[in-house]
Amino acid sequence: MSVVERTVVADPRAALRADVLAGLAHRPRRLPSKYFYDARGSALFEAITVQPEYYLTRVERELLARHIGAISAAVGPRAHVVEYGSGSGVKTECLLDALEAPAAYTPVEISGAALDDCVARLRLRFPRLDMLPLQADFTGPLTLRRLSSAARRLVFFPGSTLGNFDDAEALALLRAMAATLGTDGLALVGIDLVKDPAIIEAAYNDAAGVTAAFTLNLLARINRELGADFDLAGFAHQARYVAARERIETRLVSLRPQAVRVAGQRFEFSAGQDILVEYSHKYRDARFTALAAAAGLEVAGAWGGAAEGFGLRLLRRRAPAG
Ligand code: AVJ
Repeated sequence: MSVVERTVVADPRAALRADVLAGLAHRPRRLPSKYFYDARGSALFEAITVQPEYYLTRVERELLARHIGAISAAVGPRAHVVEYGSGSGVKTECLLDALEAPAAYTPVEISGAALDDCVARLRLRFPRLDMLPLQADFTGPLTLRRLSSAARRLVFFPGSTLGNFDDAEALALLRAMAATLGTDGLALVGIDLVKDPAIIEAAYNDAAGVTAAFTLNLLARINRELGADFDLAGFAHQARYVAARERIETRLVSLRPQAVRVAGQRFEFSAGQDILVEYSHKYRDARFTALAAAAGLEVAGAWGGAAEGFGLRLLRRRAPAG
């Protein structure tokens, strides 16, 4: 059986409070999208992934299934798989199933509960695989043990989650990832690609209203965890594709003038005033390659392109010049 290593995240409630108060004091107002994922938010995200308009998850799974032989051949035997986030496990299972004798699996996740769920599920499915969950923020450098049983590390970062970070943050994340890879590691990254804006916008405005409920749940979480009094009926979900920036920008828009109390502070909203809650960047290959290069990484394999509208990219450390 495997060892479970935990770094304790120092007071998550205090971090939420500080981030929310700072974000509401900022102009324009903003809240970090990472706070979407409480238990209800994670369940709503799973529901988003099966909406007909939300092509990302479906297309990425298809690409993974179709090209898993080539991916597995490129990775080789005895990989230590390090997944950023702990998702629902479908893509992870596909990957772990196809790799040749993977050495260990490390989901990296801030939420201890999500980490426990992920490990419990995958343990049943892969009883002989070493499970080494890491409770940490994957946007920063990770402390991972070097496993004598592993030939190399494979960072798995699916879902186009990279797109939730702005350019500076994405670069910092990829630099930290490059350090985690070591000299011979690989990273398999899912990226949503630039396409017809109508298709992109529909994915973030599903007819069933699941994405709207997901966005509004952020306010419900803040009400519950910080004793705030946001009226959920007083705000509306808005997701627009900004072509000049090649990204979806999601906002919560105040439907009327109102005041909200959050952790003892009062915030006034005029009608139409909004809170920016998420970016979802879409990539062109040239831009993604340049971003990776700035982080010392190069594209070693590419599956999916304009025809599929989504891409899987295999990254490795760029050989030093000379
Ligand atoms: C899986 C986090 C990348 O941005 O497409 C889905 C999150 N937000 N619908 C995305 C999300 C609204 C999703 N990520």
